Amino acid sequence: MLAQLSDPHIQDEDSAAALAAAVRCVLDLTPLPDAVLVTGDLAEHGSAAEYERVRELLAPLPMPVHVLPGNHDDRDAMRAHLGGVETADVGGLRLIACDTSQPGRDDGRLDVEWLAARLAESDAPTIVAMHHPPVATGIPALDRIGLPEADCAALAGLLARSPQVRRVIAGHVHRTVFAVLGGCGVVTCPSTNRQAKLELGAEEFNFVHEPPAIAVHTASVAHIQPVTR
Ligand SMILES: [Fe+2]
Ligand SMILES: [Fe+2]
Repeated sequence: MLAQLSDPHIQDEDSAAALAAAVRCVLDLTPLPDAVLVTGDLAEHGSAAEYERVRELLAPLPMPVHVLPGNHDDRDAMRAHLGGVETADVGGLRLIACDTSQPGRDDGRLDVEWLAARLAESDAPTIVAMHHPPVATGIPALDRIGLPEADCAALAGLLARSPQVRRVIAGHVHRTVFAVLGGCGVVTCPSTNRQAKLELGAEEFNFVHEPPAIAVHTASVAHIQPVTR
């Protein structure tokens, strides 16, 4: 069982209190998850001080905590404070973490060849994680800073021939989105902090006061669990 947190964007006391509440939400789960994954945008500006704060806020979690970078992160500073993960065993579920970030850019790229090589290593039930979701949300303001169509199409082909992948999980869009790609479910986890307004066709990205949430993944199912403070 894997708990997913996403997009804490740590920069001030509000974002810190919101991540602390999400951590308490994980600690309230029964049973406790085998591991926690934070799917990017850990820090708002990618500074060392922000990553140190993230490390302090995640410290109460007794299980392994994995992180992968988002467009707001500085991957080297993040790794220096929080480590990084490419693959991990999470209670018999294999986690593969893809780095879709590009220095200095908000949109992403997916190294599909790298992922294909990781998938060739094992037939164990697998969750593939990344920051940028590999599907369009229908909100142009978000889709402009997503993954290129060519990368999504290549991933669709890879997923279609990789039946061990149970789910693709992502963040970045600050709300829950579900889609199917290459016959595989894709689900995004809301932010621990601010949520994106549901406005299909919107050219501008607006935040909205909606409850933060975490996700809980097993091999067979994903749950989205709202966070209460
Ligand atoms: Fe974000
Ligand atoms: Fe992002």
